[in-house]
Amino acid sequence: MKTEVNDLALFGGPPAFAEKLHVGRPNFGERARLIERIDQIIERRWFTNAGPYVQELERRLADFLGVKHCIAMCNATIALEIAIKALGLKGEVIVPSFTFIATAHAAQWQEITPVFCDVDPQTHTLDPQRVEEMVTSRTTGIIGVHLWGRPCDVAALSEIAQRHRLALLFDAAHAFACTYRGRMIGSFGDAEVFSFHATKFFNTFEGGAVTTNNDELAAKIRLMKNFGFAGYDNVIYIGTNGKMNEVCAAMGLTSLESLEEFIGVNRRNYDQYRQELSDVRGLDVIHYDDAENNNYQYVVLEVDEAKTGITRDELLNILWAENVIARRYFYPGCHRAEPYRTLYPNAGAKLPVTEDLVTRVLLLPNGSAIGESEIRDVCGVLRFAIEQAGEVNLRLGEGLKATVVEAGK
Ligand SMILES: Cc1ncc(COP(=O)(O)O)c(C=O)c1O
Repeated sequence: MKTEVNDLALFGGPPAFAEKLHVGRPNFGERARLIERIDQIIERRWFTNAGPYVQELERRLADFLGVKHCIAMCNATIALEIAIKALGLKGEVIVPSFTFIATAHAAQWQEITPVFCDVDPQTHTLDPQRVEEMVTSRTTGIIGVHLWGRPCDVAALSEIAQRHRLALLFDAAHAFACTYRGRMIGSFGDAEVFSFHATKFFNTFEGGAVTTNNDELAAKIRLMKNFGFAGYDNVIYIGTNGKMNEVCAAMGLTSLESLEEFIGVNRRNYDQYRQELSDVRGLDVIHYDDAENNNYQYVVLEVDEAKTGITRDELLNILWAENVIARRYFYPGCHRAEPYRTLYPNAGAKLPVTEDLVTRVLLLPNGSAIGESEIRDVCGVLRFAIEQAGEVNLRLGEGLKATVVEAGK
């Protein structure tokens, strides 16, 4: 409990936590089950190349998501690159800037221009009206991101894509086990891409998948993720190496058995954050539509500096000093990161909502590594810092201003 400003670790007090609390400390399912599966892999000596666990994971994921094809991959970035290539995108692709950098890189990597489009301030996903304004004769596709697992306006984006004959791909990296209009995300647009990176609530250490109902596209993606091999000594297409290995698939199968538990923990934590912070001025924990399923992985704060009296970055520094590794996802916005900042120096002019959100959003730790008492203490630090905003600012003004943490991934 902090009772005076000097108790804040930023000003020399003891940190609230002895160990660092991370936004996405990895979840894992039943350890014995995972080890048993890894033992099986060693017994079989089938480590990769569409092994039995990868095949089983693909079947289970397709069933769970209600989609015809699921192609497991080594990560979502390669999966995005392959999906973009398989869809034949070129020229320009409309993407949000308020997303993880991989969404933009996956296009730019193949010399396709990511045209950054603004998002809706309420949903944080592509604003269909802005998308429409971005379409040019060079546009070949739209990549929507279901940010925080909250679905894009799929209906509006599908209508725009159809009318302009554009491909529609969804980056569903955050949206595993989430729904749009009651249907699992995974079968919308031409294809969707999931990430099973260690920081995701459902993880395969590293991993990802492309899902689609399009048979032809699925066949092409399967070839592309395996160098274009259609059989021994028979390369029929350009390809790369996007394969998931058996250990990752074993982790996926094991994680899948604990999925409900992971979501339950996230939900409980999320509800507690919302409740604890409901009376703290200027902090708003973003809302998830009760009519949809969400995985509740992301506890996203929107900071209103005019009410808190303290900036988002000052709160970040205060939390980091307490060993709460909160994150500014996705600061500073793709358009302000290289190579985009140099290539498209004026992109920000069309991104007022994104430019505002990247200064206000802060993500708090969630997942099975934290529980009731940690959340109470994290919220306690936030409440205290805001209640004492005047004095905190005075102290910061005295030259004690800490260096803003430079966040990587
Ligand atoms: C929105 C989004 N897209 C793509 C990715 C890339 O996923 P991966 O790390 O599996 O390549 C991430 C990863 O964090 C992400 O958040």
